[in-house]
Amino acid sequence: MGKKILFGSNLKMYKGVEETISYLQELQDLTKEMSRAEMELFIIPSYVTLERAVKAVDTKLIKIGAQNMCWEDAGQFTGEISPVMLKELGVSLVMIGHSERRHVFGETDVQENQKVLAALQHGFTTLLCIGETAEEKGYGISKEILRIQLKKGLHQVSRKHLDHLWIAYEPVWSIGVAGVPATVDYVREIHQAIKESLEELFGADGANIPVLYGGSVNADNANEMIVEPLVDGLFVGRSAWQADKFSVLLRAAKKAKERG
Ligand code: PGA
Repeated sequence: MGKKILFGSNLKMYKGVEETISYLQELQDLTKEMSRAEMELFIIPSYVTLERAVKAVDTKLIKIGAQNMCWEDAGQFTGEISPVMLKELGVSLVMIGHSERRHVFGETDVQENQKVLAALQHGFTTLLCIGETAEEKGYGISKEILRIQLKKGLHQVSRKHLDHLWIAYEPVWSIGVAGVPATVDYVREIHQAIKESLEELFGADGANIPVLYGGSVNADNANEMIVEPLVDGLFVGRSAWQADKFSVLLRAAKKAKERG
């Protein structure tokens, strides 16, 4: 059996508490018989839902993650949430550096690095998101930008923490309502470059770090993306926010990956 396939969704600032809980319960019911030895499913809802979310599901079936995190355990950081607080709730995954954090809220690679180090130190599965803008793609510097995001974002990450590190490649121009899905050829080429950067940083172990693809993933393109050997999972936004549709998408994608 190959590596586990990863499927997840970031709910952004959409679902409130009640809606999140019913979504999670429906998704769990629809997917509970699928073997978690072969796949991992994770959902990243809003902060305010987390306390109930971790209790509403079997977290072995659906891992619950936070959308962001402060790098400090405590202090004068008004409006931030610390790793210790997330741990207290039973959250096991933290997403760092989502495109909207970088481009709407101005987070830098240096900040993402501080967060990645803190998240790994605290034992979270750490999902670092990277991606180039349309402008950077236009200049033909996508691979350079991604290499920088990885080298800065993962600076001083210890090899002993690599089994908790996941990467999501989400080109900024492909995300959200105005997004244009990337072509499979482009995703293949970029995932190759990402794996090379990870090997440059961590040697052969780097190649084992899962790299998910995200950005306008939908039922029409999910299968052709996931069958790519260097695409280890799918990180889905809009097409995952109805549990029944997400369940159909991920089942089809899992089958397609198994067929190869
Ligand atoms: P999308 O979002 O699938 O709706 O484009 C992707 C993301 O922001 O992770």
